[in-house]
Amino acid sequence: MLNFKKYTIAIIGAGYLGQTTAAVLAAAGHKVFCLDIKPEIVQSLNRGKPTFFEPGLEQVLSIAHKKKNLIATLDYTEAISKSDISFICVDTPASKSGELSLKSVMKVARSMAQVMPENHLIVMKSTVPIRTSEKFIKFLSAKTKKKFRYASNPEFLAEGYSVLSTMLPDHIVIGASDAKSYDQIFKTFELVDYFAKKTVNGEHPSDDKISKKLLLTYAQVNRSRFNYDKPYAERVIKVSVPSAELVKVTANAFLTTKISFANSIANICDRSGADIMEVAGAAGADPRIGMDYFYAGLGWGGGCFPKDALGLVTQSKKLGYDFSILREVISTNRKQADLAYSKARRMLGRTANKSDIAVLGLAFKPGTSDTRVSPAINLVKRLVRGVQSIRVFDPQAMENTRRELGHIKKISFANSAIEAAKDSELVILATEWPEFLNLDFKELKRVMSKPKLLDCRNVWNKDYLKSLGFEYVGIGR
Ligand code: UGA
Repeated sequence: MLNFKKYTIAIIGAGYLGQTTAAVLAAAGHKVFCLDIKPEIVQSLNRGKPTFFEPGLEQVLSIAHKKKNLIATLDYTEAISKSDISFICVDTPASKSGELSLKSVMKVARSMAQVMPENHLIVMKSTVPIRTSEKFIKFLSAKTKKKFRYASNPEFLAEGYSVLSTMLPDHIVIGASDAKSYDQIFKTFELVDYFAKKTVNGEHPSDDKISKKLLLTYAQVNRSRFNYDKPYAERVIKVSVPSAELVKVTANAFLTTKISFANSIANICDRSGADIMEVAGAAGADPRIGMDYFYAGLGWGGGCFPKDALGLVTQSKKLGYDFSILREVISTNRKQADLAYSKARRMLGRTANKSDIAVLGLAFKPGTSDTRVSPAINLVKRLVRGVQSIRVFDPQAMENTRRELGHIKKISFANSAIEAAKDSELVILATEWPEFLNLDFKELKRVMSKPKLLDCRNVWNKDYLKSLGFEYVGIGR
């Protein structure tokens, strides 16, 4: 192996971001302590089991354990006292008004103060409000006499392909105010890049293989391509700490704008006979626009986009700027749920309240069990008042959905798409899991009481379905 630097690293916070980062850094060869306050997460990680569904994560964890590079712990002293670098990956939940809470971040600062080694490098990976670095440095400096360095390294991992986006990110943003910190972060991920390229090229021993296919399973939903070949150094972007803090929310806010824009054009398509898939496909062929995140549908959700978009509006206001475009983007997204609801009601007609329907897909997007701010769940909640019953199915998110919707009598839970569709008057596709793309539509039609499909993600072949005798409605087509 070439001369790569290996560090001892503490990952603080073992949520989606922390577990993935810890597993990948440890599998690549760093010695990693992954710290969390929840014993069940620590136990699970030490047994090699992630606490959520994410393609490739269990395989990466197993490599990390085989190399004896990963220890999950509840103990700050164990995690930090011998570490070169700490990456903060804790939650920064938003209030209703969009204000991000720094409670967990400051709790970490308090707990680190006494146990961190001299000249420790603290890297903020959590999505934090603009100017958090000033607050954090001031807060921690008041709690310790030790010298420390602070840097910002925002993450861009997307659920469903977070292992791939951690192993081979399109770009790595390093916000550091001194050369040593920049260099340490650069080298941390240089080892990851080396490991990642060997992995996707299938150069690991066979039992360690994390196949390209596995990592890409959900990566190409809503994205056109991934560039694996770009040299590592060309992916790294050096910026100031305040810029790094703004990059992450800028990216997410821009992507929400692009999706809401596509949804607005879809509304015009609905009124003009155009097909959004053709319109967006052709407009997106212009490389200045691009097809990534240009898919109309049920709107954007999840643990990040809604929080970051509203957060940026709130923070901008505080800084004296009215981010009116983004306010409109958020409002357009809310209307998307109304639109799908009205379409379903229209398809069911006057007897809607006596209808049994099915909803396929409940996670906020394919490839994850996550149902936070899921447009699909939101739609089910709205529909429940207007119909007799709803049978739902998702390949991975049933447990989370039961937690959220299990108390509603009109909702029942199926074990497959076909089971959900049985005797239904309408099947709604709410989340575009790849397994729903090639359903046995003849069988689907046979089990349904009326052949009506509402494709809220525009992924089904409307001409084929119409030829089978289905009534097909999409979003903007
Ligand atoms: C998002 C960003 O994509 C990541 O880069 C970022 O790091 C992450 O948030 C974060 O802030 O941590 P994620 O929340 O996992 O990642 O989900 P996305 O794949 O971006 O999808 C978000 C929502 O947009 C989903 O509800 C999806 O269905 C919807 N979407 C996406 C569309 O409706 N149309 C599209 O064309 C793309």
